[in-house]
Amino acid sequence: MELADKHIVVTGGAGGIGRALLRRFAAEGAGALVVADRELEPARKIAAEIDGLAVDLDAGSEDSVRELIATATAANGPIDIFISNAGVPGAMGGPEADEAAWDEAWRVNVMAHVWAARVLVGEMQARGEGYLINTASAAGLLTQVSSLIYSVTKHAAVSLAEWMAIEYADAGVRVSCICPQGVRTPMLDLAMEEPAGAAALTAGGLIEPEDVAEAVVAGIRDERFLILPHENVKGFMALKGADPERWLKGMRRLVREARASG
Ligand SMILES: NC(=O)c1ccc[n+]([C@@H]2O[C@H](COP(=O)([O-])OP(=O)(O)OC[C@H]3O[C@@H](n4cnc5c(N)ncnc54)[C@H](O)[C@@H]3O)[C@@H](O)[C@H]2O)c1
Repeated sequence: MELADKHIVVTGGAGGIGRALLRRFAAEGAGALVVADRELEPARKIAAEIDGLAVDLDAGSEDSVRELIATATAANGPIDIFISNAGVPGAMGGPEADEAAWDEAWRVNVMAHVWAARVLVGEMQARGEGYLINTASAAGLLTQVSSLIYSVTKHAAVSLAEWMAIEYADAGVRVSCICPQGVRTPMLDLAMEEPAGAAALTAGGLIEPEDVAEAVVAGIRDERFLILPHENVKGFMALKGADPERWLKGMRRLVREARASG
């Protein structure tokens, strides 16, 4: 899909990857841009910069996601591309993380994508076109060793996108899933506190949000399902698929060595 003149909504658009996507879409000549975020002031700032619309969103609430879609549609007509990008890191560690952290991550990292699709898929199918893009993570294809919550919810996000990409393609609804490894944004700070998390995240080198935007623009043009801003992720996926035992051994070694030296 070409980006020129398109109506594009980006959640989590006030900072990090979302803001870089919006800036890049503006440069590519998008027709109408909507910045949705729970941080309204920074959202307003980026909206003013790109001549877009800022909308207050809690991605963890179905009502709020529905309201965003209604507001964007009333302002600019049908949404061509909806990027469900807002995400939370959850908590570090394993199953002991408290219920509130699990609940928030399920809502924001998974259910927000479901709620957007619940409203948009029918309308896009009726029009015979539309594009749903979810930001998951390489953690959803491989794992995030420092955080069980993040790994589990991002796996669910990839699974949801895969399911929709199979189910809705014949009706003209495109689906892509963005799966970066380490990107220099505020979200990275928490994972970098733990030596094994930092080692896994930096394995493919840290990139900038603008590099993700570059990969996303190319992915949208090609209508490619899996958008991998880090080339090495494909290799790790191949290794995991071909020999899961060897992949697990390698991951255990990485964790052991990082914790011993960190
Ligand atoms: N930074 C990385 O290394 C990395 C790697 C892989 C995937 N990701 C994913 O990329 C996406 C963007 O993350 P980022 O790195 O730009 O992080 P970030 O923290 O810089 O930006 C996240 C944005 O989402 C917003 N947000 C969070 N919860 C929200 C909610 N409930 N409602 C509305 N807005 C909310 C925040 O206010 C912020 O503007 C996330 O889904 C994240 O999981 C990030």
